Amino acid sequence: MKTMEKILIIDDDEGLVHFLSRYFKRKGHNVTACLSGQEAMEKITTDDFDLILLDYKMPEINGLDTLSKIKSIEVKTPVIIMTAYGTTDLAIETMKRGAYDYLIKPFNRKDLTRIVGEALRANRQMKEVVRLPSAAPSISAPYDKDTLQIIGNSRNMQEIFKIIGQVAQENISVLITGESGTGKELVAKAVYHHSRRKDKPFIAINCAAIPETLFESELFGHERGAFTGADRTYIGKIERCDQGTLFLDEIGEMSTTVQSKLLRVLQEGEFERIGGNQTLKADVRVIAATNKNLEKEIESGRFRKDLYWRLKVISIDMPPLRHRREDISHLADYFLMRFNAEYDRPQCYLSEGALSKIEAYSWPGNVRELENCIRRAVLLSTGDVIAEQNLMIPDADDEHLLNSLTREQLIDRLKEKLEEIIPEILRLSKQDIHANIIELVEEMLILKALQACSDNQVQAAKMLGISRNTLRHRLKKQRDRDNGDDKTIG
Ligand SMILES: Nc1ncnc2c1ncn2[C@@H]1O[C@H](COP(=O)(O)OP(=O)(O)OP(=O)(O)O)[C@@H](O)[C@H]1O
Ligand SMILES: [Mg+2]
Repeated sequence: MKTMEKILIIDDDEGLVHFLSRYFKRKGHNVTACLSGQEAMEKITTDDFDLILLDYKMPEINGLDTLSKIKSIEVKTPVIIMTAYGTTDLAIETMKRGAYDYLIKPFNRKDLTRIVGEALRANRQMKEVVRLPSAAPSISAPYDKDTLQIIGNSRNMQEIFKIIGQVAQENISVLITGESGTGKELVAKAVYHHSRRKDKPFIAINCAAIPETLFESELFGHERGAFTGADRTYIGKIERCDQGTLFLDEIGEMSTTVQSKLLRVLQEGEFERIGGNQTLKADVRVIAATNKNLEKEIESGRFRKDLYWRLKVISIDMPPLRHRREDISHLADYFLMRFNAEYDRPQCYLSEGALSKIEAYSWPGNVRELENCIRRAVLLSTGDVIAEQNLMIPDADDEHLLNSLTREQLIDRLKEKLEEIIPEILRLSKQDIHANIIELVEEMLILKALQACSDNQVQAAKMLGISRNTLRHRLKKQRDRDNGDDKTIG
């Protein structure tokens, strides 16, 4: 699916160059090898690379100079320094000057695979540009695999684009919340690409994907011997991300210990590697995302309030797709175009029926679910029209599955419905609306509670958490009102 990634190897050791070239070619990469720094500089000025492996010690110009030159041309391409034993401190020095990581010679395949894999992932993260929609509402730009577009014509999304535009340039933290699949990561990247730090690193780290014990060292690094298994100094993501943007995905999963340390980084720009006694400085901009309700996490003591306020300077709440239905067809068109190009299919279209089905569905998995639905349809399509039955959208939408939801989910659902309907009622109302709606909700509650308790008022009052007297009083009020209504009609 991805195009071949281009790797540049710079080392005067022909044997190693040969080994690495074969290794990368077998993995399906495109390899360029150079035996000297000079030769490499020529290549770098004429070609774009996804990863550079650089030997620290070469005859004519040393690793640091070559690194600085590389960085002055290819700011974002990760550079892995290869160095011999005994020069670990030098390797760390190179990381301060922009190297992505280092490998100590001789290294084994396992380390090579891990470090290279991580660097290539970081490269993709950094170079995949996310474009905000232009003023024109349609998808007019030609497809470009390195550019992701954020689609959104709804008022909600337009509002979000405005916020991104306003805050991207400032160095303040951003907190992105929203259900799974709503586009939180995409928005984080958009903020980065529109920021002043766009030529500095963007490092993403998923707080839920790494076990708690390793996470701390992943973020802050560790000294050699800090714990069993710490056989070399490890430079954490924060140190690597100096001057850059750190994306902390699923921050609701972060332990409170790490939260405190992160707060210190945000407030004083200071931290220590695990097992280290030297205080280090880093200037990182944090963008955090979560699908959890952090306020609830604070209440239950799992999230620090001070960190929350620090992160929330700007917050962006991604609306679920079912609350911005007008975006659905635009997103579907965009994904069709993208996957037709990506899988090299002839242009195909959605039938009328398919489109209505897509527009009517509730998309509990949000944009990701829609994206996967279209991807599958494109891959399985045989002709140039995608019919309703090719979409595999469940018929029984989750509206019918209310009985499978928890109390909390049901209350959320009620809130969503109210959020959708109340503005419309307000649009058509001139007066009395507050009383009308409150009465309506109260009546419905009492009626349904009585039904559930077979008209036993004591039980119903208990269920509602009101006294029996209050219940009686309300019932009487309702009756009077109903009678009053009868009179005016009659
Ligand atoms: N507005 C949008 N326009 C185009 N593509 C979108 C949009 N929103 C989301 N996507 C795509 O949908 C997928 C899911 O988005 P993303 O990973 O950003 O969601 P998320 O909110 O981070 O989800 P999760 O909470 O599950 O991590 C991605 O492939 C993303 O590119
Ligand atoms: Mg995400």
